[in-house]
Amino acid sequence: MSVSLFSQKDNGTVKMERFVEDLLSKMTLDDKIGQMNQLNLEGINDTLLTKIKAGQIGSMLNITDPKEINLVQETAVKDSRLGIPLIIGRDIIHGFKTIFPIPLGQAASFNPQIVEDGARVAATEARERGIHWTFAPMLDISRDARWGRIAESLGEDTYLAGKLGAAVVKGFQGNDLSSDNSLAACVKHFVGYGASEGGRDYNSTNIPERLMRNVYLPPFREAIEAGAVTLMTSFNDNDGIPSSGNSFLLKDILRKEWQFDGFVVSDWASMSEMLSHGYAVDRKDVAMLAANAGIDMEMVSETYVDYLKELVTEKKVSLADIDNYVRNILKVKYRLGLFDNPYVDTSKVSTAYSERHLQTARRAAVESAILLKNEDVLPLHVNQKIAIIGPMADAKHDQMGTWVFDGDKNYTVTPLKALQRGYKNVSFIYEPILNYSRDKNKTFFEKAKKAVGEADVAVVFLGEESILSGEAHSLSNINLIGVQSELLQVVKSCGKPVVLVVMAGRPLTIERDLPYADAVLYNFHPGTMGGPAIWDLLFGKENPSGKLPVTFVREVGQIPMYYNHNNTGRPAQWIPTLDEIPTEAQQTSLGNTSFYLDSGDKPLFPFGYGLSYSKFKYSGLQLSSDKIKQGETLMVKATVKNVSNVDGDEVVQLYVRDLVGSIARPVKELKGFTKIHLKAGESKQVEFQLTPEELAFYGRDLQKKAEAGDFKLWVGPNSAEGLEGGFSLQ
Ligand code: BGC
Repeated sequence: MSVSLFSQKDNGTVKMERFVEDLLSKMTLDDKIGQMNQLNLEGINDTLLTKIKAGQIGSMLNITDPKEINLVQETAVKDSRLGIPLIIGRDIIHGFKTIFPIPLGQAASFNPQIVEDGARVAATEARERGIHWTFAPMLDISRDARWGRIAESLGEDTYLAGKLGAAVVKGFQGNDLSSDNSLAACVKHFVGYGASEGGRDYNSTNIPERLMRNVYLPPFREAIEAGAVTLMTSFNDNDGIPSSGNSFLLKDILRKEWQFDGFVVSDWASMSEMLSHGYAVDRKDVAMLAANAGIDMEMVSETYVDYLKELVTEKKVSLADIDNYVRNILKVKYRLGLFDNPYVDTSKVSTAYSERHLQTARRAAVESAILLKNEDVLPLHVNQKIAIIGPMADAKHDQMGTWVFDGDKNYTVTPLKALQRGYKNVSFIYEPILNYSRDKNKTFFEKAKKAVGEADVAVVFLGEESILSGEAHSLSNINLIGVQSELLQVVKSCGKPVVLVVMAGRPLTIERDLPYADAVLYNFHPGTMGGPAIWDLLFGKENPSGKLPVTFVREVGQIPMYYNHNNTGRPAQWIPTLDEIPTEAQQTSLGNTSFYLDSGDKPLFPFGYGLSYSKFKYSGLQLSSDKIKQGETLMVKATVKNVSNVDGDEVVQLYVRDLVGSIARPVKELKGFTKIHLKAGESKQVEFQLTPEELAFYGRDLQKKAEAGDFKLWVGPNSAEGLEGGFSLQ
């Protein structure tokens, strides 16, 4: 199978290869090493321009002023010996100017088209400003909500992250990388970074090869098959080997097995950090280890420019490897069209924040919100008087979430602004009470009571400031921070219906808050258009359809908890509450099974969960056969009926369980999902095709195959419910 667009040897590819070989033949070793060097913009100054003229830089990141981009580009093209243009990179993680929901939020849409459209908007806004390359999507499987970077992830599930990751790549890159609305994608962080010990950023991981292949690697492969042209290594050491020095991952798997022919960039100083890891003795050693492991381009730490030449002369790094690395980089530059036109047209009118982009972001925010609870409070009526309480109701900066370098908070439409603009006739009282999520000042709590007393319903906007999630922003306690829970309790004590709207960078532990809210709408930081999306959902103009891309735990101590765990030899059986345990109970009186005495074995909300204003009924599960052979396809059908009087969307999910394998298999695995629209009273038959390829995994012999045997299967609304069937693979 062809694994990237490069492998399709059409005329264009042949032409590109000729061009690259010709250029390569003219390059000195110094020229080559220069291409492998990426620098951060520390200001436009003589040192930078001199390096560019000398051909010592192949790429820059964080240069965003189009005039500056043209200046460095002109220096590279006109003043360096070979005139090779620079590739300009930037972290465009969930939007460039128009900010979309954080990736974890977008994952809740379970809708590849939503994430593709979002990436396309980002690519359009960024490329027209001269940026060629984004460091996204992040495909790290994240099963730990303490880890701040869970915000950037597509959640805990391999299948979901693979499908959505491929859609992001499609959105960024389009069909033609050289077009003026395409960005080169960079799948990151390769690999396992999401499993950092204790959720502490940059920490070690201990993922054995089989788990790596079954859980952590597949989304990368899928995104590469979708055409991703670059890949970034990760900061973690896995079982002692830092990713930027791991030739097994970068050479054996990525290049040999997957035939990846884009280029690999190290993460920020992750190469020189091999010194701190205690894996390299000095910077020269760093360069040698990384070059021999398979890193094509070094981000910021400049060990390649300082030592590669010496290392090649000493035959510690091969020239053939260097040539390949440079080829990989030049091909991406070629495909981006940089050799034809390296410049950005500064006269071009910006499409940033265009109505179309804003509406695309609003749609994404609508589909990313998850209704977790609703006891007959929602939707609200426009004639109800609303008390708007809480620090996230008008937090223009924080609503955008982490990794927003270019988005302007003045374009953010907060819930407060959205109500004033879009629902002019609604009467409301606004009392933030707390200035920001960590604010511990309870002085104004009385004001909350007064406001709620005068209203028919309270809508309380709580959550996390954007700075509390993202890179290097891990937390050991993931309750609502500060005195927000107390504020919610005060509001509830007024006796009015309470709607809790959360905006956060991670799944927070909100079990203690649920009794104080009659309805909960959860938003991972929803971006520029979060405000209008939220009111449209609260007023029922839109119907919530988001589903959890990650398990919500009851207590932080349950982490890691994810739906697709193994069964263990002693799955949980009877689980008493702490109070039910008799005093002086005998050691074995509780049964010896796997659970926490104080929080059981179940999460607060399972993966895939999310409510709607509609009610959906699942029936009529049909399998095309109760047996399939290798090479055959099983057709799985089920009928979903909207048994309510409200139109709505439902994400129908297919899970399987491989009952016995050469290794223990997860209790459930997502193998299909589809979002359908059902009018009130309407029913549709949903069809999934399941092939043995999708049932394949790396078993005891580390070969990927579907093992014969019996399977259970579910079609349902989340990972804990569904119609159950079974089949066998022969
Ligand atoms: C992050 C990457 C990011 C890079 C460049 C690093 O600290 O881990 O995800 O792309 O910086 O900004």
